Amino acid sequence: MVWRKIFMLNIVVLCACVSIVYPQQANITARDIVYPIYARNGMVVTSEPTATEIGASILQQGGNAVDAAVAVGFALAVTLPRAGNIGGGGFMMIYSADDGRVTAIDYREKAPGRAHRDMYLDEDGHVDAERVQYSHLASGVPGTVAGLALALETYGTMSLEQVITPAIEVTEEGFEVTPWFSEGIKYRAERFRSHASTREVFFKPDGSFYEPGDVFVQEDLARMLRLIARQGTDAFYRGEIADLITAEMERHGGWITKEDLAAYRPAVRHPVSGTYRGYQVFSMPPPSSGGVHIIQMLNILEGFDLKALGHNTAATIHLMTETMKRAYADRSRYLGDPDFVDVPVEGLMSKAYASTLREQIDPSKVTPSQDIAPGTPPGYESPETTHFSIVDKDGNVVSNTYTINFSYGSGIVVQGAGFLLNNEMDDFSAKPGVPNDDGLIGADANAIVPNKRMLSSMTPTIVLKDGKPFLVTGSPGGSRIITTTLQVILNVIDHGMNVQEAVNAPRMHHQWLPDQIRMEEGFSADTIHILKSMGYDVITGTAMGSTNSILIDHQTGFLYGAVDPRRHGLAMGY
Ligand code: DON
Repeated sequence: MVWRKIFMLNIVVLCACVSIVYPQQANITARDIVYPIYARNGMVVTSEPTATEIGASILQQGGNAVDAAVAVGFALAVTLPRAGNIGGGGFMMIYSADDGRVTAIDYREKAPGRAHRDMYLDEDGHVDAERVQYSHLASGVPGTVAGLALALETYGTMSLEQVITPAIEVTEEGFEVTPWFSEGIKYRAERFRSHASTREVFFKPDGSFYEPGDVFVQEDLARMLRLIARQGTDAFYRGEIADLITAEMERHGGWITKEDLAAYRPAVRHPVSGTYRGYQVFSMPPPSSGGVHIIQMLNILEGFDLKALGHNTAATIHLMTETMKRAYADRSRYLGDPDFVDVPVEGLMSKAYASTLREQIDPSKVTPSQDIAPGTPPGYESPETTHFSIVDKDGNVVSNTYTINFSYGSGIVVQGAGFLLNNEMDDFSAKPGVPNDDGLIGADANAIVPNKRMLSSMTPTIVLKDGKPFLVTGSPGGSRIITTTLQVILNVIDHGMNVQEAVNAPRMHHQWLPDQIRMEEGFSADTIHILKSMGYDVITGTAMGSTNSILIDHQTGFLYGAVDPRRHGLAMGY
């Protein structure tokens, strides 16, 4: 693969440059400094090195950020099957340098036409977790292929065939299994072995594991990608791939039909936007809750001097926690698919409502979650995902998060098609008031209705400074996505970190219920001690999110790419 060799050479050159000049070196302080990679013409940051290389090669061939994003989207479906997908859905935010507008493409999965409110309840009225998370009924109608194709048609410059070809090559020629890839399969082995179609893809013919160093080839998936390259979205939604999906459903009691697939359309939506300390923040509107709540939380936090209080001090964490609780309480009541329910978006994001919520926060006292209820915003009437960020030489920007929900989705491969199905139906409120796998509680606004999109937390975000893109970020992490993305923004704007430090810094999370602060390793014992003595229940959990981000410094003309060290990705620029 010639493109691969060229890029490996470039990255070596780039790394050498980084050690010679770095414009922010003047700011070195006593704290540990980590540097992002930098470049002038284009930058791609994803959670998987081959996909990054493919995106960067598209930029270098003259493709724009959307061409590269679509190429990366298809590449991750091959190289990162735990999250990259054609059997799931997601959201893409695009900044177009031509007209300075930001657009949101919603390619979230939809409930099948036969779905109904109580479809996951057993005879006793309890949610059947196995059914909603791991059965053929767990899948929503996939949106990825339609969403990527729509983005390319509207904003790209290359053909579908051109941008899918690198992914097809990797699928056919295979790629070298990494320790991380192999561990992922081992982790899910029991479930994978229970489906013949999944077994055939993820195990060797003799049933043994692919080990690091082995070459992983996916013949069925290569054939599917070739069909999409040649026939476009029709292959997936009306043609041979649709036939394979519906045959899989019919064999195993799933409900996705040919009509559901043929009727699937991605939606072009107006992003939600707000301001924070003079910056403009654009993010994903419903059916994601991410954009609304990130803006709501920024509005509340704008009234506190976080910089003076310090990064990750107990005082700052307390204010962030109280803010998060209130936002997630509102999420539980108001958020759902705007094509089906009225979401009070403007009210939730208004500065006035934020002031009301801020006034409830006592800087020295914890409010237990049981004393917090969803508020009344004005105007109200009634562990896997992956994020990548791309900037091209003309200043176009893509911030994309897509998912099949859990790692490897439902664990079910469509027989003969080689790709995994999502288990996104778990993002609906299978029973209002009963938490889903992420502990998130929902209400009627997120109840199951045929053809409705399930609520998401995915928060692809673009922050503008003086009207120009400044920070491109987003994350996986289920319910933690919104708070993780929030912290990258705060770390850059309030705490003056470079983008790599902002991405690396230890993170915390509170989601109202359970009433508990979850913290990564890396907080000081003193901070945790103070928070506990204030009355907080603090748990130290595993790492949260993977915020592959780019910062654009218009003064120097440099792009800074920060891959999240919590995963195994790569930032690459030229
Ligand atoms: O859309 C959502 O909010 C979830 N399905 C995302 C799941 C996720 O991030 C899991 N990964 N880490």
